[in-house]
Amino acid sequence: MINPALQPLSDYTFARLNRMLENVEPAADKRPILLSVGEPQIQPPAFLSEIVAANGNLWNKYPPPKGDLAFREAVTGWLNRRYGMPDGMLDPERHVTSISGTREALYQLGFLAVPERKNGQQPVILMPNPLYHSYRGAAMLGRAEPVYMNATEENNFLPHPENVAPEILERTALCFLCTPSNPQGRVATLDYLKRAIELARQYDFMLAVDECYAEIYRGDPPPGGLQAAAALGSSLENIVVLHSLSKRSSAPGMRSGFLAGDPELVKRYGEYIMFGSASTPLPVLHAATALWKDEAHVEANRAHYAENWQIASRVLGNKAGYREAEAGFFVCMPADDAAGLTKQIWREQAVKIVPVGLMAREDADCVNPGDPYVRIALVYDTETTEEGLRRIAPYF
Ligand SMILES: Cc1ncc(COP(=O)(O)O)c(C=O)c1O
Repeated sequence: MINPALQPLSDYTFARLNRMLENVEPAADKRPILLSVGEPQIQPPAFLSEIVAANGNLWNKYPPPKGDLAFREAVTGWLNRRYGMPDGMLDPERHVTSISGTREALYQLGFLAVPERKNGQQPVILMPNPLYHSYRGAAMLGRAEPVYMNATEENNFLPHPENVAPEILERTALCFLCTPSNPQGRVATLDYLKRAIELARQYDFMLAVDECYAEIYRGDPPPGGLQAAAALGSSLENIVVLHSLSKRSSAPGMRSGFLAGDPELVKRYGEYIMFGSASTPLPVLHAATALWKDEAHVEANRAHYAENWQIASRVLGNKAGYREAEAGFFVCMPADDAAGLTKQIWREQAVKIVPVGLMAREDADCVNPGDPYVRIALVYDTETTEEGLRRIAPYF
């Protein structure tokens, strides 16, 4: 007997992409280049592996569920520096927990932050559309109704929870926002985040801000959810932010990040982990602690992506609809037939891209807001990135 509620799991973006390209053979004379997955292809700093190796005597220890104090202090220190948090507002004991990457925690929030009924009705999880698939997975886990907030050119590619109907907001238990956003690379302003927190408090739902691209920017650093909470007062209720080392440190294989904010949720998270979920092993946690304390490798990473953006602007800059995103490493290009184009480019150029429609869902008017775009990830070294972009440029 398999739980039929698991059905949406097979609907994950890359499972859909693989199905779409199943019978499409990539050009045999070309080296395949995967500009589809948001996985950094550059290496993390060497000290990561050195610290893991140096702490090899700790593999016999069960890891602490919320990470050890040194990790939580490193994270608190980073949050204070990065977002100018008021002294003492963040308590490493109460407001921070280690997580195994944002993907896992975003999904688990569907259980942790969603009651069986909200105001006597089935709860709702609000999420941007296009979306990261774990937001939808969270709705499945929490037996909640996913309600999509379209992020389109008309609303500057940022969903607006305050425009959601009041009867839906009454049922809302959890709202996901993503800034800088995937795939459009849009950065929410501090005022936008403040309004979202106020709405969360008005309707008593948890606002979860996915900030995993926060460190891949050019120019000013994107504001964050905790910074917005601080601007509103001293409370961290109804808000959590999620960060990870996957993009910041090019280390998605570590499965390490943190969740910070609402003290009750942080406490419950630690308890939940004790029953049946992985917490970060100590040798990895010690390396993660060092990574949150070091900015040199993050600056080098940022400079690398800035170079890739320069290449993208040089190669695609004269194409209709090309936009240099504010942050992150995805180019979102308009395409009349995104699915057809994706197949054609894979067949003729052996370059894989993603039709954004596969990352989105039809709204109540049966419109898929991702349909008019393809996503191109600038995650390789500069040479490979340029080669991939040059191969696909004539198709736009
Ligand atoms: C928007 C968004 N959120 C979360 C994740 C998950 O990242 P991780 O679990 O590695 O922190 C990704 C990964 O691509 C993403 O694009």
